[in-house]
Amino acid sequence: MVNIIDGHNIADKLNIETKNRVDELKKKGILPGIVVILIGENPASVLYTRMKQQTAAKMGMHSVLKKFPEDVSQDEVLAAIQEYNEDPTVNAILVQLPLPKHLNQTEIIEAIDPKKDVDGFNSSNVGKLYNNEKGNYPVSCTSRGIMTLLHAYLDQLEGKNVTIIGRSILVSRPLQSLLINENATVTMVSLHTDNIDYYTKHADILVVAAGKPNLIKKEQVKPGATVIDVGINKINKHLVGDVDFDDVKEVAGFITPVPGGVGPMTIATLMQQTVDLTEWSLI
Ligand code: GUN
Repeated sequence: MVNIIDGHNIADKLNIETKNRVDELKKKGILPGIVVILIGENPASVLYTRMKQQTAAKMGMHSVLKKFPEDVSQDEVLAAIQEYNEDPTVNAILVQLPLPKHLNQTEIIEAIDPKKDVDGFNSSNVGKLYNNEKGNYPVSCTSRGIMTLLHAYLDQLEGKNVTIIGRSILVSRPLQSLLINENATVTMVSLHTDNIDYYTKHADILVVAAGKPNLIKKEQVKPGATVIDVGINKINKHLVGDVDFDDVKEVAGFITPVPGGVGPMTIATLMQQTVDLTEWSLI
């Protein structure tokens, strides 16, 4: 019997914890603050940034959605980030990706104060994660959200064989580090990999972040494996993942649906990490 991983349920529980932490901080006169920066009008980015800003506001945080037109200059974006870096009412800064082509993404991400880098994309935070440094620093919200899901459904990750399909800096690479840091054995593959089935079939945990609808079928999955689908693809106005859910659920032990699996965890983790940054700023 397959078990469907309920991302909404785990995200709801995390959101309750986070809201309680916001309330505790407010009792001490501290208001967590987040600024979400949207550049241009990419429909997915418009939707995601609105959800992020509204969720933070609903939790009682100081929450700002800062919008720039598609043709904003690099200097204008950098100046705004500098302003928020220096603004004591702002604990977390997020620049929604992807950016319009004329902008320098690396320079923009690096301009965010590492202590306010709520996405954990800044190279100093990426380096700390890579080196498994102890202490407080933010990491990719989707990757941390996947770890929260795995911990909710699996007893331990130590010794598990994990295959990640995808190499993105947003999800796959930080997830690789998080898993290695918990003593899992991680194999990174991509659509360029020869004989990809060899790697998928050996995985106790298969994470698919390839951006290709219905890429993975049941013949490619080890019976009883945990399958985490990070894909969000729109087909005829329907959302589908990178995994053929109806097919793979016949062999998987646990599987995330799309929507309702990884998706809700990204925003819940963003809220969690905004409060983390606020608390860490007081230490
Ligand atoms: N675009 C897609 N996912 C993300 C994310 O987690 N953070 C940001 N900033 N942009 C994204």
